[in-house]
Amino acid sequence: MLSKILYENENCKWIMLARDPQKKTNVIDTNEYAIIVNQEAILLDPGGIEIFPMVLTSISEILDVKSIKAYLCSHQDPDVMSSLQLWLGLTPNAKVYMSWLWAGFIAHFGGEYVKNFVTLPDEGLALDFNQRKFEFVPAHYCHSSGNFHFFDPEAKILFSGDMGAALVPLDYPTVVEDFKEHIKYMEKFHQRWMPSNTAKNKWVQRVRKLNPSLLCPQHGSVFAGENVQLFLDWLEDLEVGKAK
Ligand SMILES: [Fe+2]
Ligand SMILES: [Fe+2]
Repeated sequence: MLSKILYENENCKWIMLARDPQKKTNVIDTNEYAIIVNQEAILLDPGGIEIFPMVLTSISEILDVKSIKAYLCSHQDPDVMSSLQLWLGLTPNAKVYMSWLWAGFIAHFGGEYVKNFVTLPDEGLALDFNQRKFEFVPAHYCHSSGNFHFFDPEAKILFSGDMGAALVPLDYPTVVEDFKEHIKYMEKFHQRWMPSNTAKNKWVQRVRKLNPSLLCPQHGSVFAGENVQLFLDWLEDLEVGKAK
């Protein structure tokens, strides 16, 4: 599994884990992101049970697993968080941030760790993690009805969950190189998995204000520099949620 440093300064590092070569072909590929702040980590969308051994192996090469103090479950999908109980078995005191809307549903994976849940209000929340400020950014109906993305205002990096997702080949670059070429990997995904043009356009407006320099989806490749703007322009024009 690839491990790529997206950002690094004296006390903070963003690392992307991607392109699991051992993953079965019928399991959708996912990206996981670890943010390490002063030796402690947040894991964004820890992933599915199926890929847990590979993600654990890769992350153990980067950090001491016991240093993971928090998880974000951007929404309730199995590819996002069905591994949660396994992670919490290793880090029983870590916090799990999720939409209030899904807490009772995610509790069906097992009640033992419900005490670790921190439910996010619809309007989002600021997070102070080891003296670095982050934001849980509302992204409801993009695609889940209770959905949050995660922003680092200092690094200007936005974790965008399924927004910007693309179904790419295993040998595809982890950072988008040719935006026009990339469209074919993400167009159908957004048309089908994003249910609402109103919600999608509201999200685009919100992200334009944040003005990220990196946009990091849970599937596919990272958008950097001018490709962030190209993606937002493209998404704004795309009609989504079309019933057949
Ligand atoms: Fe999803
Ligand atoms: Fe997903």
